[in-house]
Amino acid sequence: MENRDACHVLVIGSGGAGIRAAIEASTVGETIIVSKTITGKGGCTVMAEGGYNAVLTSEDSVAAHYEDTIKGGAFLNDPALVEILAREAPDRIRDLFAWGAVFDLTCEDKFAQRSFGGQQIPRTCYAGDHTGHEIVMTLLEKLRGSPVEIRDELTVVDLLKDRNVVFGAIVCNREGELGTITADAVVLATGGAGQIYDMTTNSTAGTGDGYALGYRAGAELIDMEQVQFHPTGVVYPYDTRGRLITEAMRGEGGILLNTKGERFMEKYDPSRMELSTRDVIARSIATEILEGRGTEHGGVWLDVTHLPKEQIEIRLPLMLRQFLQFGIDIRTQPMEVTPTAHHFMGGLRITLETQTTLSHLFAAGEVTGGVHGGNRLGGNALADTQVFGFRAGRAAAAVESVAKRKMDTVQIDATEEKISRLYEGQATSAKIRRLMKQIMWNNVGIYRNEFDLKVAERDIAKLRAMPLVISSPREISDAFITENMLLVASLVIDGALLRRESRGAHTRIDIKASWTNETSPFGHTFFSKTRSGIEILEGRL
Ligand code: FUM
Repeated sequence: MENRDACHVLVIGSGGAGIRAAIEASTVGETIIVSKTITGKGGCTVMAEGGYNAVLTSEDSVAAHYEDTIKGGAFLNDPALVEILAREAPDRIRDLFAWGAVFDLTCEDKFAQRSFGGQQIPRTCYAGDHTGHEIVMTLLEKLRGSPVEIRDELTVVDLLKDRNVVFGAIVCNREGELGTITADAVVLATGGAGQIYDMTTNSTAGTGDGYALGYRAGAELIDMEQVQFHPTGVVYPYDTRGRLITEAMRGEGGILLNTKGERFMEKYDPSRMELSTRDVIARSIATEILEGRGTEHGGVWLDVTHLPKEQIEIRLPLMLRQFLQFGIDIRTQPMEVTPTAHHFMGGLRITLETQTTLSHLFAAGEVTGGVHGGNRLGGNALADTQVFGFRAGRAAAAVESVAKRKMDTVQIDATEEKISRLYEGQATSAKIRRLMKQIMWNNVGIYRNEFDLKVAERDIAKLRAMPLVISSPREISDAFITENMLLVASLVIDGALLRRESRGAHTRIDIKASWTNETSPFGHTFFSKTRSGIEILEGRL
């Protein structure tokens, strides 16, 4: 092992949260950011379309943002984290604005804000329908002007640990060469794991590596069963299935129709209609499809044809262009949509300062649990990346420098041994991933029951037992990532079996509980190498 690097703060992951953390940490000490793709390209932030929630007017309030987020999250959120999100989101969007991000503004030069689901008042700031892209481009400019060292196309294989203290990572480059980066503190900002499902809005980098790295190192995770299915993904053409159709479509006035021409949200949530929360809308669409009122390709219609053409052209230009490429003019034709795996609400348990349950290991963004409870509101993810990315960078940088830690070669030797075994394995990563995605889609989707979950548990366990094979060093990273994905899939299934209630995005059709979200006796599901279970709230059961 030749490649050895060292720094004060190591940030793993280069989406919105990772870059924000690195920028902040670099104001204090030497910082390295590691990306398994190209920094800024791989995460989901750059793909986010709709917007960033922030309280910016006197008609809105931190209390209202807090209340919407907790209600939308099925009362499973960590209230203190939500309070921070609501309180600090405005300052962080002002940072972006000051760094040059071009958001849509009103005639009075204030941030324009549109309605997203579950809001009492329009709170979502935006840059057309390419808000995440605008944010990441701005962050990249800032990053390039900072002293942060960028290491692209490096996969993190495992975290380095000395007793309970994390002090860096073992990494693997595209050629399959191992290296280490030691650090006083590490920030995980690796995003979610939509790629464990057959249909997802996530980029190919959404493989859940941070959940697996944290878990293997001994950190605790919570609520892994809470997987959000965004109500509107592309159904057709087939090779673009799952791609995001922004909630801004509905925020601008789009409506949902079944094949009988019925505006079916009247049945499921007559007061909020298409601006209900995502869990409710995704279930409603799934029900319409399951009961035979879906389209030929297995979706429902999303229609914006009643809106003024200029509104679509100015506020939804990306969507307009995307559908024109498919031969559909959304100004005159409806879109076919279906729910698609989008966001993981569960993840690493963190404190208000983003400290995980391991010393010197911090986390921010989708890799964490608690902020969004059982269902994330649209527009809260971009805010989450900036608020907690900033906090993670600051907290990690505040860790005192330690004398050089003794590198325990056991971890590295074990990785090298594992790599040599990969040449004698049986199943390719591509095959295992294909099977895993189908198992998860068919059995651990929107509607769940014990029978299907047990099938998934058995089948994922079989995949995990199959030795992965590689034929060249260039396939090593992929094999490690596939292992991560399988581990995450089993954690999602474990959580779904543990949570014997319907809550947020997790719907157990085989269990009828007598409580509401607010009075549920259950708190977080939790998982670590040494314990797992579900919290029982005192006096509620
Ligand atoms: O629908 C969207 O534009 C996605 C936004 C989000 O997930 O926050």
